Amino acid sequence: MLTIDINDQQHQVDVEADTPLLWVLRDVLHMTGTKFGCGKGLCGACTVHLNGKPVRSCSLPISAITTAKITTIEGVENNLSNASTAIAVKQAWITENVPQCGYCQSGQIMSAIALIGNNKSPNDEEINIAMSGNLCRCGTYKRIKSAIKTASN
Ligand code: FES
Repeated sequence: MLTIDINDQQHQVDVEADTPLLWVLRDVLHMTGTKFGCGKGLCGACTVHLNGKPVRSCSLPISAITTAKITTIEGVENNLSNASTAIAVKQAWITENVPQCGYCQSGQIMSAIALIGNNKSPNDEEINIAMSGNLCRCGTYKRIKSAIKTASN
């Protein structure tokens, strides 16, 4: 049994130590906002925050996070350290009508919140670098960038 902190709540989970966090979130805790894309750390669909930094939950064994704070798309607005940023980013995503199929968007939003949390006014290059690990097969990149600029103004 391992104890993990997800969205400021302690959870005891009975899984193998090498189980990826993504599957604990989705299959054990039924937090399905975090998505499975590639399973290899390449697409960013599974992005969550580990102590405020974006990480790929598909490549993170549960045993590596027992002393960490994990924030998911479900809890990011309640995280006091970045609540206002999270609300602004989600609102900008609506204003800019960002999603197409929507599958990658929770990962995109988590990366965008982490970016703006560290840099209140990122320029184009900083946005490109910060978001380069989040792929979108619908090609919503232009609207993602617009939403990040809207949220950071
Ligand atoms: Fe984790 Fe693609 S599912 S990076």
